[in-house]
Amino acid sequence: MKKVGIVGVGEYLPSKILTNADLEKMVDTSDEWITTRTGIKQRRLASKQEAVSDLATKAAKEALNDAGLKPADVDLIIVATITPDMQFPSTACFVQANLGAKNAVCMDISAACAGFVYGIVTAQQFIGCGTYKNALIIGAEILSSITDWKDRNTCVLFGDGAGAAVLTEVKSGGILSTYIGSDGTKTDLLIIPGGGSRNPSSHKSIDEQLHYIKMQGNELFKLAVTLMTEAARVALKRAGLACSDVDWIIPHQANVRILMAMAKKLGLPPGKIYLNIEKYGNMSSASTATALCEAVKGGRVKKGDIVLLDAFGAGLVWGACVIKW
Ligand code: ACO
Repeated sequence: MKKVGIVGVGEYLPSKILTNADLEKMVDTSDEWITTRTGIKQRRLASKQEAVSDLATKAAKEALNDAGLKPADVDLIIVATITPDMQFPSTACFVQANLGAKNAVCMDISAACAGFVYGIVTAQQFIGCGTYKNALIIGAEILSSITDWKDRNTCVLFGDGAGAAVLTEVKSGGILSTYIGSDGTKTDLLIIPGGGSRNPSSHKSIDEQLHYIKMQGNELFKLAVTLMTEAARVALKRAGLACSDVDWIIPHQANVRILMAMAKKLGLPPGKIYLNIEKYGNMSSASTATALCEAVKGGRVKKGDIVLLDAFGAGLVWGACVIKW
């Protein structure tokens, strides 16, 4: 297998900001509850004119620019999303057309909050085997489109955004190890029951609000801590590294308390966990992608650093990736 690394990153966040104070006017909640229970202060909302492919395209352009590549150089586009533009065709095909990346093969991945990590692992296989040279992995979501804005249990958590990474063959460093896992016995914990072949969209499905996110937050909280910790341990073991070797954990951002509990279990100082949840909330696949972009562009991640991507989400799905920057 060839060595594969990330050679460019990008992000796009819609300009509209929804603060906790705004939410106080919409549902029975408070800034104090949201801040202490989740770590979120505000989130971004896409405009009515924006679809996920629009956000994804902007993040992708920035990542390609960062990598010094042109759209025609891209062989593979993977968009990880649970809020595609449409049921089909894939959002990746819309992004391909927007970019003019005419040589690319395009596909979407449905792995919820772990989608960006799943995308990186998938692209690594193609590049590692020599099938493709340059891959664009994008985590992009408009979660506001599937959020029930009357449900205080969920509407305070989510936001919209996109992050992207360019993967290619590298001479040294790059991805040292990966690990992904799934458990299909717990699909009920986080689900949109309507709009698919099980419950096609109908007046009845809309009246019953089946097109919105349903979440059992308490159960997920415990599983997120356990499985993100396990993912980190397995990936580090596969890389032959200890927790103490990690310079930055760049995780999915569902809840700051989940991340602090994970840091404690791993015996890592909380300061090694890169956070952007305060500004953006939980953006599913876009959370890990934007956090990586900001950590790199903000100069936190330096050449030679050991970076651990770690994510967990609906499915259940989880995964981690150890990268030498
Ligand atoms: N404002 C005020 N009170 C609220 C709110 C709110 N927005 N939401 C819930 N409450 C109330 C509840 O009604 C409950 O009241 P009660 O005790 O009178 O019944 C109380 O607060 C406690 O509710 P819990 O659900 O126990 O609160 P918890 O501390 O567990 O926090 C949360 C809830 C933030 C959802 C947390 O469980 C969590 O983050 N879970 C994990 C989510 C996750 O990891 N998702 C997977 C990834 S996301 C993806 O894949 C898209």
